[in-house]
Amino acid sequence: MTGGAGFVGSHLVDLLVAEGHEVVVLDLCLPDAHDRRPDYLNPAAEYVWGDCADAGLVADAARGCEAVSHQAAMVGLGVDFADVGTYCRHNDLGTAGLLGALHDQGFRGRLVLASSMVVYGEGRYACPTHGTTPAPPRRVDDLDRGRWEPRCPRCDAPLAPDTVPEDAPADPRNVYAATKLHQEHLVACFEREHPGTTAIALRYHNVYGPRMPRDTPYAGVASIFRSALERGEAPRLFEDGGQRRDFVHVHDVARANRAALTAPVPASRAFNVASGSPHTVGEMAGALAAAFGPDAPGPEVVGGYRLGDVRHVVASPERAADELGYRATVGFDEGMREFAAAPLR
Ligand code: UD1
Repeated sequence: MTGGAGFVGSHLVDLLVAEGHEVVVLDLCLPDAHDRRPDYLNPAAEYVWGDCADAGLVADAARGCEAVSHQAAMVGLGVDFADVGTYCRHNDLGTAGLLGALHDQGFRGRLVLASSMVVYGEGRYACPTHGTTPAPPRRVDDLDRGRWEPRCPRCDAPLAPDTVPEDAPADPRNVYAATKLHQEHLVACFEREHPGTTAIALRYHNVYGPRMPRDTPYAGVASIFRSALERGEAPRLFEDGGQRRDFVHVHDVARANRAALTAPVPASRAFNVASGSPHTVGEMAGALAAAFGPDAPGPEVVGGYRLGDVRHVVASPERAADELGYRATVGFDEGMREFAAAPLR
């Protein structure tokens, strides 16, 4: 497992070790993500510290492996475009290095990639007149006037959100998203050229839970709100707080990975990994603030927007349920209550 010291990877290590699997972790322990070796590392796994782009290290770590889980990546939206080289180096070249080394080794087995819902860009929408419609990027003058919903390119009516299935067109809208889609393509190429391999891309929705990194420009909104509440500050809602996401607990994401590594699957493909119960960012902030207790400040709608944010991304969890047997088990209220008190990194 690459990235096995990270947020999702470390929970997956724990789950696999508990079930009796032998796990070898390859992790760079990137200083942007870790100020030191995390103290939660499972001692029953073996750790190789270094880069997936280092063919020699991958060869050592992967010798004899039946399955490879590729979790290592630089995540989040970054500070600005200047991060482009670092994203490509870790995500594109890291994946290329890993796959090249697996090729040299004659690896044939299960290959699972941590991908993201960001490959979709906006989620799926329907126009009241024109039906299912791809949502173009929102216009700056609309955003400046507080018109938050994407609009139909044919009649300009506000579009209504719908669940996004895995065969929705890819539309990556930032550097991170572009690298996640490229990783999916590289893994699919590996699978096509190595019969006997099955490749699965898991498109994580908004993962939260213990060991999540604290708020940095690379962290998601759940961690930002949790960190604000810890400082005694109100969660600050951009737009009107009505943006919808699917917040999925990291233990469920680990279970989805376990299924992707071990369940019989009919074909190589992508799966949404979600809770199946979407919430607005405002609802998430409210649940988290309530879990902090009666003295915690409630969420504040500060308005404004981040150009490049999408409005709603809501997953269809059906394919993962039908083909991987994966269904989320941690409910929203229970998960947010636990997250309010969980140790962050
Ligand atoms: C997030 C991740 C993305 C990841 C995806 C799925 C980041 C920056 N984005 O995308 O990398 O692939 O989940 O796991 O890590 N918001 C506020 N107040 C704030 C911060 C954000 O209202 O202080 C709003 C944003 O405007 C946005 C929503 O919350 O509408 C979600 O923000 P965020 O979690 O940063 O980005 P996602 O697009 O959900």
